[in-house]
Amino acid sequence: MESPTIVPVSDTPLLEPPQSGQTVTPWLLVVLVVVLFSGGLFGYDQGVISGALHGMTQELSLSRIMVAVVTSWVTLGALFGALAGGELADLIGRKRAVLIAGAMFTLGALVQALAPDTVILVAGRLIVGAGVGVAAVAAPLYAAELAPTNLRGRFVSGYQLAITVGIFLAYLVDGWLSETDSWRIMLGVSAVPGLLLFAVALFAPESPRWLMKMHRRPEAAAELRKIRPGVDVNARLDAIDAALREDAGGASWGEVFQREWRRPLMIGIGLAVFQQVTGINAIIYYANQIFAAAGFVTQSAQTTATTWAIGAVNVLATLIAIAFIDGLGRRKLLLAGLLGMGISLVVVGAAFEFILRGPDQAASAAPSSAGIVTLLALVGFIICFAFSMGPVVWTVINEIFPGRIRGRAVAVATAANWGAAFLVSQGFLSLVDAIGNGPAFWLFALLCGLGWIWIYRAVPETKGRSLEQIQQFWKQPGTER
Ligand code: BGC
Repeated sequence: MESPTIVPVSDTPLLEPPQSGQTVTPWLLVVLVVVLFSGGLFGYDQGVISGALHGMTQELSLSRIMVAVVTSWVTLGALFGALAGGELADLIGRKRAVLIAGAMFTLGALVQALAPDTVILVAGRLIVGAGVGVAAVAAPLYAAELAPTNLRGRFVSGYQLAITVGIFLAYLVDGWLSETDSWRIMLGVSAVPGLLLFAVALFAPESPRWLMKMHRRPEAAAELRKIRPGVDVNARLDAIDAALREDAGGASWGEVFQREWRRPLMIGIGLAVFQQVTGINAIIYYANQIFAAAGFVTQSAQTTATTWAIGAVNVLATLIAIAFIDGLGRRKLLLAGLLGMGISLVVVGAAFEFILRGPDQAASAAPSSAGIVTLLALVGFIICFAFSMGPVVWTVINEIFPGRIRGRAVAVATAANWGAAFLVSQGFLSLVDAIGNGPAFWLFALLCGLGWIWIYRAVPETKGRSLEQIQQFWKQPGTER
């Protein structure tokens, strides 16, 4: 079958025409730090739970249901945070939205660390989750609006890389503290970078584009002069003004759901949901439990496997995506990655079903053969996710919508992503209880297969296309499937 394609042209600048050799000024470094800290905290708060569950389950006598609630309610908070994040960033500015996210990270970390009981702990998870959601919408927006055109791709993909580094650091901290099961320190320690994010964002520049939108030209000029000394400030602000006027009126929520944009909206939501229902966060969150079930007996063996096989591999393989996303294109990476993810999950399921049930399943200090097979297959899964469904999904979601509806449409897709993440992380343990480990992983594999067919049929290649061309493409007759 022929895949849908779009005619190529160059990229559309958000703030200015493309320039080469643009240098990174100290103020741009501040912007970069804000973006990297936002992503890093998002990742840390997602990853840390895997090592904290053991200690908190014992101390607070958590039932299996409460383990799932404590794990997954970060994603529930993130769902609402993401929906509010876009509105907040428009209302009070990108910088102040990031400030609020930093404050929520800090407050949530402290509430979790000091929680006297499960209810307060869950409240802390929700607060941190809301911070994650706000940051997930505001930080990439901030990055896209402040980075010079020639560095914009790297600034935005730096955000996804920071998420994976955050998860890795969380696993490392979990490992260091696993001997003593100090779950309160594991969760509480993220108050420090939360506070740092707050402090850096306090001094960071506001987006000139947002200031122009709010009719605050003198302040926009001052910020632009600071970030980009030597640019023709007036010409640049006039260009922003013209672009803003083209989008005048902004899109209402009704327009986001109009027939005209149904196809990109379905693609955005579909990609967001398939990213989650193919199992990534069941593995990120419950990695230690999976390794325990696969024969890694000691806690330190489990956290070591999680840190290096999942955490470090995730960071390294994300670098592959950053290197190839513009050359190979989105579709190739997505289709190759999903295929590899599906095959890996079939192997993980088989390891649980056939090897662990074998006669030599005696508990020993060394991982069993099923454990080794599971480990290798999970490494394969993570590599395939990290060069495809991780970063590529976010890239496509941020480029398929026309300017008028982009903010709200991205927020809808992001919320769908968190909704699906919530269902998976909340339901994974019950799923395992109901059908067993092997079939649970096979179900994820089946969803990889369905995702593959849907992407093959419905998702067009967007590599090297301007945002306007993508916008025009949705209007062409005969492209509807
Ligand atoms: C996903 C997260 C996931 C992370 C893992 C992101 O793209 O949205 O849900 O935990 O990748 O690296």
